[in-house]
Amino acid sequence: MLSKKLEDALNVQINAELWSAYLYLSMSAYFAREGKSGFENWFRVQALEEKDHAMKIFDYIITRNGKVDLKPIKAVPETWQSPLDVFEASLKHEKVVTALINDLVALAKEEKDYATENMLNWFVDEQIEEEATTSQHIDSLKMIGDNGFGIYTMDKELKTRTYTPLKTNE
Ligand code: FEO
Repeated sequence: MLSKKLEDALNVQINAELWSAYLYLSMSAYFAREGKSGFENWFRVQALEEKDHAMKIFDYIITRNGKVDLKPIKAVPETWQSPLDVFEASLKHEKVVTALINDLVALAKEEKDYATENMLNWFVDEQIEEEATTSQHIDSLKMIGDNGFGIYTMDKELKTRTYTPLKTNE
């Protein structure tokens, strides 16, 4: 049985992951307006992955006989200055998510809920990867600067990203 405190915190995290999905969808829509279909694709896949993150916690709460509590999703920004601006906003957001996950792990330890701690370890690893990938894209964009051919090449590369659904109830 999940403690009430942990159940509440996991429900807050579902909301944070869905907000992330919303944010990345908004970024995808921004790139669609800008005519950058590769960037658009990359953030669309990112949004789908965030939805899976939410579902992983959703399924976990159900498996533990807890109560899923879906809260309202706050509005997200709609526009940015450049691809670099988008990825920098994305990295800033991922750092916030990493801090939230770390707080959840600390709470699971405090509550001596080792099953939840174990489930959350997947998110700890995922955050390392998310921050690293986003940082790599920031480095590339800084190198490219305002070189149109560089942006064109990166856009083509980002178009190759595909979505692999996560098995959320394992
Ligand atoms: Fe689910 Fe990108 O954090």
